[in-house]
Amino acid sequence: MKSFFCALCGLLCCLVLPARAGTLPPREQAIERTLAAMTLPEKVGQMTLLTFNTVAQGTLPFGTKEPHRLDPERLWAAIGEHHVGAIFNTGLHALTLPEWRSVVTGIEAAAARTRLKIPVLYGIDAVHGMSYACGATLFPQQIGLAATWDPGLVGEIARATAYEARAAFIPLVFAPSVDLGRNPVHSRFYETFGEDTLLASRLGAAMVRGFQGNNLANPYRVAATLKHFVGYTMPVTGKDRTPAAVPEVVLQENFIPPFRAGIEAGAAAVMLANCELNGVPVHADRHLITDVLKNSLGFRGVVMSDWGSVYSLSDSHHVARDRREAVKLAVNAGLDLAMVPFDLDFTTLLVDLVKKGEVPMARIDDAVRRVLGLKYDLGLLTGPPPNAGDYPDFGSQRFADLNRRAARASLTLLKNEKSVLPLPKTARVLVTGFGADSMAALNGGWTYTWRGQDTDRYAADKSTILKAIAAKLGPARVEHVAATYDEPADLGREVAAARRADAVVLCLGEEPYAENFGNIDDLSLPESQTALARALAATGKPVILVLTEGRPRIIRPFVDQMAAVLLAYLPGNEGGNAIADVLFGDAGPEGRLPFTYPRGPNGLGTYDHKISEGYAQDPEFPFGAGLSYSRFRYSGLALDKAQVTATDVLTVSVAVRNDGRRPATETVQLYVSDLVASIPPPVKRLRGFRKVALAPGEQARVSFSLPIKDLAFMDRNGTPILEPGEFEVAVGGLHRKFVVR
Ligand code: GLC
Repeated sequence: MKSFFCALCGLLCCLVLPARAGTLPPREQAIERTLAAMTLPEKVGQMTLLTFNTVAQGTLPFGTKEPHRLDPERLWAAIGEHHVGAIFNTGLHALTLPEWRSVVTGIEAAAARTRLKIPVLYGIDAVHGMSYACGATLFPQQIGLAATWDPGLVGEIARATAYEARAAFIPLVFAPSVDLGRNPVHSRFYETFGEDTLLASRLGAAMVRGFQGNNLANPYRVAATLKHFVGYTMPVTGKDRTPAAVPEVVLQENFIPPFRAGIEAGAAAVMLANCELNGVPVHADRHLITDVLKNSLGFRGVVMSDWGSVYSLSDSHHVARDRREAVKLAVNAGLDLAMVPFDLDFTTLLVDLVKKGEVPMARIDDAVRRVLGLKYDLGLLTGPPPNAGDYPDFGSQRFADLNRRAARASLTLLKNEKSVLPLPKTARVLVTGFGADSMAALNGGWTYTWRGQDTDRYAADKSTILKAIAAKLGPARVEHVAATYDEPADLGREVAAARRADAVVLCLGEEPYAENFGNIDDLSLPESQTALARALAATGKPVILVLTEGRPRIIRPFVDQMAAVLLAYLPGNEGGNAIADVLFGDAGPEGRLPFTYPRGPNGLGTYDHKISEGYAQDPEFPFGAGLSYSRFRYSGLALDKAQVTATDVLTVSVAVRNDGRRPATETVQLYVSDLVASIPPPVKRLRGFRKVALAPGEQARVSFSLPIKDLAFMDRNGTPILEPGEFEVAVGGLHRKFVVR
């Protein structure tokens, strides 16, 4: 590859080139020289992102042959004839590492036969570890990582995921999702970092830095993609990809800041939301893509579409008469890379649009500069080809240990009556419920397959909750009665088994799903799960409810009969072990809810609700909640100033003490309330958080530095406003007021 580049530079150096090219930094010189050599079809090809099936053997769209292999003719049609510059995804399921390496190497070999030999960019989904790779490390889904409130841990996981993607020779991932989880009905809730802007901003930025490091050409780093810009997770109906409505002030105050944080962290790409937002399909919204994302937020990377979203403008949004007009709308709005994903018409249509002057060449050049810039930064244009021998830790125990540590840190204990947990290892337990012996229930979607429905086949060597408990206690102490997701359980058998046990571990929640396959009309759990919970509780034995779910399903009908509630979210391939560790005391629960857990199916409020709706807020469990196997006592909340101005930094400190008999980790949460504002203020906002591990009896003083300018709220134009008046700090149930002059 390097020889190509030297040859190209040599060839072009003798041509009459824009004088300015010679004065540019090497990166821009490389981009300008390549751009100057490109034909219009070659440029348009660099704006095209095809899915694997389009260059693989089999029938389109989803009839990929087994085993999945490249189709040389299809591959050359895409890369040689249409100059396609990017490919992503798998066929129908996970591939082995050698298969992945063969796919990417085969594609790059085809690219090396083209006129300009520009390498193809390969992308993969990776919201909880690398999707679609046999043996890859599958971590807790983002909603569980959010419950760790630990940016450092999230960064470690992203670094491990980057390692494994590069091991497959893949340099681009479609993660993190920095959408906010503020509508728990939505099927993509588990792919978010929860409802809070600060938490999502800090964790999203940490994931970007973990993926990318400070040099994208590093063979252990990948390009991150912030998604889905913006407001996608707020469909009015809760159904995936349906119209979202988010007031402009809420977009600016809550939904855009996590993208700003990700861009400031250096995110290389942004994926657009597939839906209509406030009456405009995002993929046709020049204001959002160019004015806000590229200009106001200063995003200099690649703006890519979501799956088929360009054609959605004609096919489903009906804002374009045909696909030609859809391409015109999206590219002129600011789209740089179209995830088409199945056909080559996109390139033909766009070439025609440029030739007829309907899409300016300047727009094409802007897009191609961004794509070539990403390839340059990744080392694709100049670096050596990847070396399979550089990745001995793929799927290693080292990564499995990190995975177990993350899963443990995510587990959130929401109820623990009479300190029934941790259970003694001498206990006889019944383990039941549909999630008891299921790796699919632990992982959710985006796993070895898109919807995550056959994870147990791929992860047969991993431990379900049942296997992990049996390994910890010895099989003689563990009885299992199988149950399904939504069919009536064998209550007679269940009750008899419960009577033989000291305690029951009841694993309920959701089956795996992705996108529209996760659409629901009701957050309530299937009646069979409620009936089983009630029957088991009626035996008088303590029932420990373990929830594995991508979103907060309603447990009000039986939660009062549960002795304990441990929310595991979707804890990944080490989730079974982590749950057993916490249930039997080898680890203490330290997760804190990253969202408001609703009491009823329509109880969809968030912690930062408006004061006017406060009377109607009655969650099952509040944002930030979580118990430990110890108790924490807060005291001595102190502010270093009683009056501040916009340029001040307020220091807030508080003492927190572990009053229990076990070591425990607390997440100290700093909230601030603006008591009166010209836009109705939320009842409070999270403004800081810090984890602190304390030995029994140990006390620590935790201090936060709070720039007063950060307390400003956004008006509808995204202008920060800080108004004088009274504010109140709240930490650990303690409150102190201060005044902004
Ligand atoms: C999907 C998802 C997006 C994903 C992309 C590629 O439709 O919306 O999150 O990254 O397509 O698989």
